[in-house]
Amino acid sequence: MNDFTQLAYLVTAVLFMLGVMRLRSPASARSGNLLAAIGMGIGLIATLVVYYQFSVVLVVLAVLAGSVGGTVAAKRVRMTAMPQMVALFNGMGGGAAALVSLGEWIISPRVTVVSAIAALFTVLIGSISFSGSLLAFAKLQELITGRPIVFPAQKPINGVLVAIAVVMAFVLAASGQGGQSLLVGLYVILALGLGVLVVLPIGGADMPVVISLLNAFTGLAAAATGFLLANNVLIIAGALVGASGTILTQLMSRAMNRPIGNILFGSFGRVTGGAGTGATDDGVVQSATVEDVAMLLAYARRVIIVPGYGLAVARAQQEVRQVVDKLTARGVDVRFGIHPVAGRMPGHMNVLLAEANVPYEKLYEMDTINPEFPQTDVVLVIGANDVTNPAARNEPSSPLYGMPILNVDQASRIIVLKRSMNPGFAGIDNPLYTNPKTSMLFGDAKSSVNGLLRALDEV
Ligand code: TAP
Repeated sequence: MNDFTQLAYLVTAVLFMLGVMRLRSPASARSGNLLAAIGMGIGLIATLVVYYQFSVVLVVLAVLAGSVGGTVAAKRVRMTAMPQMVALFNGMGGGAAALVSLGEWIISPRVTVVSAIAALFTVLIGSISFSGSLLAFAKLQELITGRPIVFPAQKPINGVLVAIAVVMAFVLAASGQGGQSLLVGLYVILALGLGVLVVLPIGGADMPVVISLLNAFTGLAAAATGFLLANNVLIIAGALVGASGTILTQLMSRAMNRPIGNILFGSFGRVTGGAGTGATDDGVVQSATVEDVAMLLAYARRVIIVPGYGLAVARAQQEVRQVVDKLTARGVDVRFGIHPVAGRMPGHMNVLLAEANVPYEKLYEMDTINPEFPQTDVVLVIGANDVTNPAARNEPSSPLYGMPILNVDQASRIIVLKRSMNPGFAGIDNPLYTNPKTSMLFGDAKSSVNGLLRALDEV
């Protein structure tokens, strides 16, 4: 590796780190993304043009083709389909790391037993990440059922297959490179099969966590490939992806109060607890009109808005901002309560509200806003369900039990905007809806909020 390439790699690594650091806040995330993209560009040029001396024209064409595909996909994808897109990109990364390592192991003249083990380890986790991510994509895109698919003795079978894969890796590493093509083929098929088997029993609300875990796998595979190729920037980038994927997985599982082992093996959502049946008890569900709600809001002192996945589906964030503006102009104290796993991906609600220019200082995290609910006149729950479910606090038999929630039921009045009595992502009924303090404003969130805007003008 010449000095120029090493220097370029150093710059790339620093830009990646600065990029990740800036992703911590929505205010700096955009520039963080740009910095990381510039870093990636420098890394690509340093590797392909300077080090490998590939034809500049070919490299530019390849980068252009990739960039056009990526830009079109990113522009077209709906915000609610972002987890699927991440799954797809992530799977490609895992697959690429597996292929590069496999190729390196087969053709490189320098392979030792240790580097052969590293290569075969990368093939294993890269392939798991590839097939697991494709299956996760198919589940989230509803190409197949999103529910957990389970069969008897699933865990022991998976355990035995992992053990077989490890033994095969050692046999292959010891037998020298290139030979044993039948065994290599079987090894790759086994690794791909393991990815499918690991993701099959996972479903419902756990899917985004699994995608993040597979993301960590891809990072690990990329870093191991970096060791194999003696490529520093690949080691650093892979380690960054592996570490951030692991941290994100932990944050999400903590926010849902579900240990990672429970997510991987718990088959959440298999027992749906009467999904879609409406109220859990004989309690009455009260509904309200936009005029009733506008009146309540206009004369409130403090209002907390709790956004959830339905807000993203309805794309009502601009209208919600206008409601906030109108209420603020009337002297109402309006805040947003943001649950860490509201929506379908980390920071989903923050990004959505930032898009509508809702000031960041109006956004309060769960731990900060929870003590405020008892002093709040009206809570407006817009398309959120699981993250407000009091069963998570009071019903030990509920699958959500233990998940920290936004304590919206402690406010004086609760208004819930949703289309029906259907449950949320976890498939669990929500006793909040039969609380005597709760009124439902049924309908698509965008049209309900538009109705509210009109009704507020009349109050
Ligand atoms: P959910 O519990 O999924 O509830 C969303 C609600 O929005 C639904 O009950 C739905 O009811 C309503 N809705 C859908 N489209 C709507 C529309 N056009 N207008 C009005 N309402 C609409 O959402 P949440 O409270 O945000 O919870 C997120 C869930 O995802 C949790 O279970 C969480 O654990 C899981 N999860 C999230 C993450 C991250 S990182 N965000 C990661 C893993 C898991 P109707 O169909 O009746 O309208």
